[in-house]
Amino acid sequence: MSSVTVQVPAKVNVQLSVGPLRDDGYHDLVNVFHAVSIFDEVVAKESDSITVSVVGEWADQVPVDDGNLAIQAARALAKHAGRTYGAHLVIEKSIPVAGGMAGGSADAAGALVACNELWGLGLPFEDLLEIAGDLGSDVPFSLMGGTAIGTGRGEQLSELATGGVFHWVFAVAEGGLSTADVYAQCDRLREAEGAEVPWPQVDDALLAALRTGDAPTLGARLANDLQPAALSLRPELAHTLEAGRAAGALGVIVSGSGPTCAFLASDADHAGHLATTLSQLPSCRTALAAHGPVPGPRPS
Ligand code: C5P
Repeated sequence: MSSVTVQVPAKVNVQLSVGPLRDDGYHDLVNVFHAVSIFDEVVAKESDSITVSVVGEWADQVPVDDGNLAIQAARALAKHAGRTYGAHLVIEKSIPVAGGMAGGSADAAGALVACNELWGLGLPFEDLLEIAGDLGSDVPFSLMGGTAIGTGRGEQLSELATGGVFHWVFAVAEGGLSTADVYAQCDRLREAEGAEVPWPQVDDALLAALRTGDAPTLGARLANDLQPAALSLRPELAHTLEAGRAAGALGVIVSGSGPTCAFLASDADHAGHLATTLSQLPSCRTALAAHGPVPGPRPS
């Protein structure tokens, strides 16, 4: 096999409950992930060494050195297999960079699946999940796709069954936010408040809405503990959220650590209208309509 291609979806967190800061610098979470139909493509081609090139709208914002998570993933996989392997990875980016949609994690997950196939390793999914967890808290979910609850750092996953299709719009802001900065800001805001941080709890009503395909209830239950931190770092996002509310979104939320904002629509037509409205905002670089859940990366 001389080349393997995979499509890897972006994610939105429909519930992101952040517990107290742990000794290792992470937070325990209840993180309900939902994969949506904005895909990066990862192609792994035969090569002597592990290298990457990036094309597409966001390409100039992605490192092609050791900081690239897909390179780190391919290296970790080769190490796990105990051999020296090479691959040239070509990433076509459609997922916003540093946007709170797990774009870097998607590329890492894509590299794991594509290189596992290219190198004929045949490693089981469980092994890939373990390697993924060491690469980043969101990488296991990017590998899994669909809808799932993540606990621990977000890397311990249980798959969730969902009913029907949910229609979304993502308002992408100009410039990204660092996940670590947003968590640190969340800690600062909480410290200033002085209240005890509760242990994160699963929202059963939200899970029931996912299970039955009840979009209005899902919209009403969307929750993200990182949202106040993202809004304090990027106050203009409040206007984006408000514009979506005014345009009749069933629910509005900052996606993960932001700055992308997510809007739940009642159907595909409504999503199209919302995308047109939001794309006219000065705070919005572009608005993308998508649906979920969609599967994780599989070799084709
Ligand atoms: O796991 P990952 O490298 O993607 O995390 C990036 C940063 O986000 C961490 O360094 C940490 O600051 C923060 N984080 C956190 N708690 C989590 C996940 C991420 O504090 N559960």
